[in-house]
Amino acid sequence: MTTKSLVAGLTAVGLALGATAWAAKPPRTSAKVDETAVSDSTPTFYKDVLPIVQEHCQTCHRPGQIGPFSLLDYQSARPWARAIKNAVAARKMPPWFANPEYGHFDNDRSLNQAEIDTIVAWVNSGAPAGDPANAPPSVQWPEGGWNIQPDVTVELPPYPVPATGIKEWEQLAVPAPFKEDTWVTSVEIRPGATAVVHHLCFDFAKHKPTTPYNVYEWVEVPRDDDGVAKTHVGSTPPREGIVVSRPVGSTVETRREGRPSVRGGNQFCYLPGLPFEDYRPLHAGVFVPAGSDIVVSVHYTTNGAAVVDSSRIGFTVAKVPPPKMFVSQGGGEGDAAVNTDSALNNSILSRQQANEKLAIPPYDGNYSGPPADITFKRDIELVWLRPHAHVRGKSVRYSLIYPDGREEIVLDVPHYDFNWQLTYRTSLKIPKGSRMHVQFMYDNSASNKYNPDQSKWVFYGGQSWEEMGTPNMGFVTDRKANEQELTGERF
Ligand code: HEC
Repeated sequence: MTTKSLVAGLTAVGLALGATAWAAKPPRTSAKVDETAVSDSTPTFYKDVLPIVQEHCQTCHRPGQIGPFSLLDYQSARPWARAIKNAVAARKMPPWFANPEYGHFDNDRSLNQAEIDTIVAWVNSGAPAGDPANAPPSVQWPEGGWNIQPDVTVELPPYPVPATGIKEWEQLAVPAPFKEDTWVTSVEIRPGATAVVHHLCFDFAKHKPTTPYNVYEWVEVPRDDDGVAKTHVGSTPPREGIVVSRPVGSTVETRREGRPSVRGGNQFCYLPGLPFEDYRPLHAGVFVPAGSDIVVSVHYTTNGAAVVDSSRIGFTVAKVPPPKMFVSQGGGEGDAAVNTDSALNNSILSRQQANEKLAIPPYDGNYSGPPADITFKRDIELVWLRPHAHVRGKSVRYSLIYPDGREEIVLDVPHYDFNWQLTYRTSLKIPKGSRMHVQFMYDNSASNKYNPDQSKWVFYGGQSWEEMGTPNMGFVTDRKANEQELTGERF
């Protein structure tokens, strides 16, 4: 499979790029790069290019990560020289979509013009290796394919994903691995079968006697022949209806009417391009009381081959409570209403978004979705933004309106790309009484190359041919000042 067809294939199903991508062969054109003599001014791999790729590329381009080839050493980089030049000159790599005019992002991986020029000049002069003695020390990446080096890991039960059919968002509760009150300082979710995991998110939740362990539960969504939900409730998954449950390891499904017994949120998420959460640089953590549960929300997208997914979650934990605590915006992924389980969130913000009104007409190339308005009830520090839409997502803009009426564009993504669920990390103090206004735009026309069918109406929903417009955000706040209220209210 060539890289082109691989990428096209993945794009067509709107999916994660995964372990399979690793087998990609370099494009043939790279063999045509001219080999010319190296003069003193010629950039070389070891001296000039390696420092750039260490900082901007190796996080994905190393064995076991999502990049289709390794950029750890010259031997593996060299056959890709021509493709590297094209990708960086077109600013396709590294993936980064924030308009540089607005905001400041700590994890901005984009290359500056001088770095692009260096890589282009290196390839134009035959992509020489140079002297290995000039190489910077290699980066010490964590072992075993992790991006964090976890202190504790959890194996989720193996999930047989069928070759075809629609899977709804399923919920699963398992005990959290913490016997004592714990401050978690980083979290990484590693899906086993990246090609079929559309998302895997979880919340920590207080264990209730009614919480069943190791049972998948989902609410049936009546769909038409095209797989489009017949009613548009504006929340994913629906809050009530026919609840189907299936114990882990069994194929027997039971149906009842009502509400699911657990509801997984999106405090921690795996989405394609979203590798891990690390609060250590923020001196922050998440408080997990002893005996909590992990409540997972997982969505599999079938892709023609039956596979078994075995996903893992890794954590680092603090020895002493960190000075700050991390809080993510509440509400299940895409929920209009603030999740009622989360009193914590209610004490910090209130969110309004009429998702049930999302209705994109056929052929509309510039549809403005129902905006989200998030009002802050206390001073808080914004640490990341993670806009989420599906294949018709076109652009998104977050504007903060301060109590004095001043407006600041915090994040502007002029070309949203569903294939990359990026987290934009920042640091912004938000005073009480401010409001974040988030506007997604959608393109349901033929000029959107990811559009599976421009003749269809598109409504809100959790499948990738339906749409969402979720303004996820993460915050930190002083632990001591808020500990009692925040940890107490939540549990
Ligand atoms: C966030 C992860 C990530 C980062 C960072 C990243 N890449 Fe990639 N790269 C990927 C993935 C995944 C693919 C395959 C899918 C695609 O092409 O979009 C890819 C594909 C490529 C390709 C093949 C493109 C093609 O047309 O076949 C090249 C070349 C490349 N990357 C170079 C780089 C370079 C050089 C950097 C750093 C300057 C970089 N990448 C940074 C994830 C990443």
